[in-house]
Amino acid sequence: MRLQAALFFAACLSPAAAIYNDEVNHIDFHHALLGSPSPDSTFFLKPSSTSNASLLYTISDKLLVGAINPRDGALLWRQNLSRSADSPPRGGLLRGVDGNDAVVGAAGNYISSWSAQDGKLAWENRFSEGVVADLELLELEDATATPGVRDTIVVVGSEVSGIVRRLDGDSGSTKWEYKEDSGDIPFQVSSSPTEIFYISLQSALLKGYKIKVTVLDPVTGKQVRQQVLSSESDVATPESVLFVGANIASPIIVWTDKSQKSLKVNVIGTKEINSVAIDNTSGSEIRKITVHAAHKLNALPHFLVHYATEAGAWAEVYHVDMKSSKVTKAYQLPYLPGQSVFATSVIDANVYFTRVTDSEAIVVSSASHGILGRWNLPKSSSDAALHAVSDLVTREKSVAVRSAVFSEHGDWQLIRNGQIEWTRNEGLIDAVAATWAEIDAQEGLAHELEVEGHDTIYGAYVHRVKRHVRDLQYLPDWLKHIPGRILSSILSDEVTNLDSFGLATPVIVATKNGRVYALDTGNHGAVLWSVQAVETSQWDVKAILTSPGTATIYPNDGSSVTLNVSTGDIISRTASSDSKLRSIAVFGSQETSSLNTVGVREDGSPVTAFDEVNGFLVTTSADSRVLGWIAKDNKSPVWEFVPPSGQKVIHATARPAHDPVASIGKVLGDRSVLYKYLNTNLALVTAVNEKTNTASFYLLDGVSGKVLHATTQSGVDTTQPIASAMSENWFAYSFWGDVGSNESSAKGYQLVISELYESPFPNDRGPLDSASNYSSLHSSIESPPLPHVISQAFMIPEPISHMTVTQTRQGITTRQLLCTLPSSNSIIGIPRPVLDPRRPVDRDATAAEAEEGLFRYAPYLDFDGKWYLSHARDVAGIKEVLSRPTLLESTSLIFAFGGDIYGTRATPSQAFDVLGKSFSKLQLVLTVVALGVGVAVLAPMTRRKQVNALWKAT
Ligand SMILES: *[C@@H]1O[C@H](CO)[C@@H](O)[C@H](O)[C@H]1NC(C)=O
Ligand SMILES: *[C@@H]1O[C@H](CO)[C@@H](O)[C@H](O)[C@H]1NC(C)=O
Ligand SMILES: *[C@@H]1O[C@H](CO)[C@@H](O)[C@H](O)[C@H]1NC(C)=O
Ligand SMILES: *[C@@H]1O[C@H](CO)[C@@H](O)[C@H](O)[C@H]1NC(C)=O
Ligand SMILES: *[C@@H]1O[C@H](CO)[C@@H](O)[C@H](O)[C@H]1NC(C)=O
Repeated sequence: MRLQAALFFAACLSPAAAIYNDEVNHIDFHHALLGSPSPDSTFFLKPSSTSNASLLYTISDKLLVGAINPRDGALLWRQNLSRSADSPPRGGLLRGVDGNDAVVGAAGNYISSWSAQDGKLAWENRFSEGVVADLELLELEDATATPGVRDTIVVVGSEVSGIVRRLDGDSGSTKWEYKEDSGDIPFQVSSSPTEIFYISLQSALLKGYKIKVTVLDPVTGKQVRQQVLSSESDVATPESVLFVGANIASPIIVWTDKSQKSLKVNVIGTKEINSVAIDNTSGSEIRKITVHAAHKLNALPHFLVHYATEAGAWAEVYHVDMKSSKVTKAYQLPYLPGQSVFATSVIDANVYFTRVTDSEAIVVSSASHGILGRWNLPKSSSDAALHAVSDLVTREKSVAVRSAVFSEHGDWQLIRNGQIEWTRNEGLIDAVAATWAEIDAQEGLAHELEVEGHDTIYGAYVHRVKRHVRDLQYLPDWLKHIPGRILSSILSDEVTNLDSFGLATPVIVATKNGRVYALDTGNHGAVLWSVQAVETSQWDVKAILTSPGTATIYPNDGSSVTLNVSTGDIISRTASSDSKLRSIAVFGSQETSSLNTVGVREDGSPVTAFDEVNGFLVTTSADSRVLGWIAKDNKSPVWEFVPPSGQKVIHATARPAHDPVASIGKVLGDRSVLYKYLNTNLALVTAVNEKTNTASFYLLDGVSGKVLHATTQSGVDTTQPIASAMSENWFAYSFWGDVGSNESSAKGYQLVISELYESPFPNDRGPLDSASNYSSLHSSIESPPLPHVISQAFMIPEPISHMTVTQTRQGITTRQLLCTLPSSNSIIGIPRPVLDPRRPVDRDATAAEAEEGLFRYAPYLDFDGKWYLSHARDVAGIKEVLSRPTLLESTSLIFAFGGDIYGTRATPSQAFDVLGKSFSKLQLVLTVVALGVGVAVLAPMTRRKQVNALWKAT
C-alpha cells in the first residue's frame, strides 16, 4: 500500500522542472552572434538627440543588423534581413545619422528602417524593379516632415535601369523618383547640403568606364545637370573606384590610375579631376588603398588615404579647398611595419583620425600632424586587424578614444585608451562541429586500476600499497584546505559547486573558416583558447574525437588535426587523401577511450576495411541507398536497402552511442510488464518523394538490413524541416503534412512518437522468449521478430528543425526530446511522459493507467512555457544540439551551435541528487550543534530524575 502511494505521488510530480529566474545566467550561457561586421556599414551612432551615449551598429556578412552596447559588448537588439530578402544578395548596407532614432538597412531588393534604440521595425519595402545598389540618409531636414526624422535616398538598379528614390523617413513612402534607362551601372548616391548626386558608371566605347554624375534637386528630384568624367583609362571595373564620399560639405570621388602612380580626386559636381602623385616611398608594392572621410555635412573637407603594403602601411591626409575644388596634401602619417587600421571621428566640425597598429593606438587631428593621444596596446595575437571604427571624446586638451577593431579570424574587440574592454568571437557563428573535451584528471587513476586488474593478486596488492603511499604526499595539502572548504561551503549561498561532477567540461568547436575554439562551459562559455588549425574558408568537419588531453578533428578531405585540449597547441596532422568523404564513422567506446574512425566515400563505401570484432557499419550513399558492411570488408556490402523509386534518403539516425537502458520493461498499473524491444542496431531512415509529396520513415535492423517497420506520411511539404531522433525503444519525427491519413483534412506541423515492444501483450516476450542466444545475422528463427509498434501523432504549433535526446549517466532519469524551434529561436525539452503513445484516446485514464503516469491524449500539443530550456533568450540559427551525461544522474549537459552558441544543463526529473539553493547548511549545522548542547545539558538531568524515581519507587 505504501509503495502504491509512493508511486502515485511520483506520478503527480511535474515531469519537467522549469528554469528558475535565479538560474538564468548561472547554469546557462548564450553568445548572441552577428557574424563579420561589414567594413562600410559599421559605425558608432548616438541614437537620441538628448543624450551623448552612442551605440555600435553594424550589418554583418550574414545580413544580421545589430546594435551593441560599447560598454560590455552585449547585443542590444538584432534583426535578420536574410529572412526578408529574396535571392541571396551580395551584401548588406546600413546607414544612420547621429541624433536620429532610425537606422536603415538594405539587402537585395529589401529595405527596412529600424528604431536605433530598440530595434523595432518602422517601415519596410521591397522593390520589384531591382536590387538596392546604395543608400544614404539625408542629413538636411525637410521643413515639411516631422522634425528630427531624416529621409532616405536609395538607388535601385537592374540590368537596364537605375532609379533614385527619396523615401519618407516616417513611412518609407516614395516622395519622388528619378529614373534613367541608359543601361549604365547604378553605382552610388551622395549628397551635399544643397544637392543630391547620382553616380553611375557609363561603359566607354572601347573599354573601361566613364563616371557619370547626375545632379538632382533634393526637393523635386528633377535633374539639374549632368557631368561625365573621362575616367575610362583608369576605371576598368566598378571596384576600381576607391571611394565615393557622402554627406560631406564637398563630397569627393577617388580613384587611381592603373599603375597606382597617382591618385585621382574629383569634387562631385565639378568637372575637374585633381591628380596627386602617390609617394611610393616604402619600397614595396602597394597592395591596397582605402579612403577614410567624415560622414557629416558640417565636417571639414579633409580625408585620409591609407596605403597598405605586404609588410606595413602609411597614410596621407589631404585637404579640399571648397572654393577652388583643389586637393592638396596636408601631411603624412609615417610608414610603420605591421598592420594598421584607420578610423574617422567627427566632433563639431573637426575631423580626427585614429590609427591602430599592432602595438599602439594614436589619434591625430585632420588639421595638423601633432599626435593628440597615444596608447600602447597589450601584446596581441597574430591576428591581423581588418577594419575599425572609433568614437572620440575630447576633454580639455586631452582625448579619449574607443575603437572597435575587427580582425581577420573573427574577433571583434573594443579597445578603450589602450585597454581591451571586450571581445566578441564572431567567428563562432560559422561553427560546423563541436564536442565535449575529455579532461585527463581521472586518466591516471583509471590506468593504475587497469594495471591492478591485470596483475597477479600479490603484484596488484604491492602496486596498490605503493600507490597509496605515493598519494600520501598530497595529504598535508588536502588537510590544510579542509577548514577553508568547510567554511566556504557553509557560508556561501551559491549553488553547490558541481564542477567536479563533470559539469564544467570544455567544449571544442570547429568552424567553417578552419578555426578551433575551446569554450569553458563552467565559466559562461568563455573562450579558453582559439587557434587557426587550417587556412581555409570551407572546412567541412565531419567528426571531432576526444581522448583525455587531446582532440582530433576530421574534415571531409581525409586529413586530421590533433590538438592539445588544455592549450590549443597543434600536436600532429595527417595529410589529406584524394577522395572526398561523405561522413566519418567512429568505432569503439568512449569509456575505454579506444576510439578509431573510418571514412565513408560518397558512394557509401568505407575507405578502409575496419577491424572491429563485433562491428558492422551502416552507411548512406549519395544516390540514396543505405548499405550495411561488416568488418574486414570494404568492397561489397552485406546488405543494401534501396527505397522505392522516386524517394530520396535525406537523413539517417541511430541510437546514441551512450544510451543506457535502466529497465528492460515497462511496469503497467496491474504489475504486469510490457517488454521493450531493445535492439542496439536500429537505424531510422528518412526518405522523401518530392513529386508525390510523401515522406517515409524506415526502421532498419543494422546487422541484417531487414525493414522492421515502415510508415509513409502524405501531403508532406518536403521543403520544410523534417527532423527525427531515436533512443532506447522509441523514435520520434516531425514534418509538415496532412493530419491523419485523410487527403482532404487540414495540414499542419506534426510530431509522431513510436514505441517498440517485443509483444503487444504484457508479460510476454514474443518470439524472443525461448531464444536464449539471439543474433540478427545467424538467426535460428526463420523470420526475425518484428517489434510491436505503438504510435501517436501530435499537432505542434511550429516546425522543429533538429531533434535529439537528453543523455544521463545511467538512463534512470526521464528523457527529454530536445527540439530546436527555428521560427521562435528557442530550444525546448519535451518530457517523454507527455509523448507517451499509450495515452488513452477519447477517454480519461483509468486508475491503473493514472498510476503509470498516463493521462488523456489531446491531439494538439501546446509547448508548455516550462519546457523552454532557452527560456526568454533569442537563440537563433541553431543547426545542432548536443547532449552529454555528467557524473550526476539527474543532470545532462546541453550545447547548441550553428549560429548562436548556447549551453545549459537539463534536469528532466529535477535535480534529485543535488542539494538545492534553498538548502541552508548553516542552519543544519546550528541545529545539530543545538541538539548536541541540549543532549549534554538534559542527559545528566534525566539521569538524576531516573535515579530519584528509582529511590522513590522503592
Ligand atoms: C554632449 O557633449 C557635448 C560636447 O561634447 C556637451 O557640450 C554636452 O553637454 C553633452 N550633452 C550631454 C547630454 O551630456
Ligand atoms: C612602388 O615601389 C615598389 C618598389 O620600388 C615597386 O615595386 C612598385 O611597383 C611601386 N608602385 C606601386 C604602385 O606599388
Ligand atoms: C598539453 O599541454 C600541457 C601544458 O603545456 C601539457 O602539460 C600536456 O602534457 C599537454 N598534453 C598533451 C597531450 O600533449
Ligand atoms: C476523410 O474526410 C472525409 C470528409 O471530411 C470523411 O467523410 C472521411 O470519413 C474521412 N476519412 C478518414 C479515414 O478519416
Ligand atoms: C537568418 O535567416 C536565415 C534565413 O531564414 C536563417 O537561415 C538564419 O539561420 C537566420 N539567422 C539568425 C541568426 O537568425
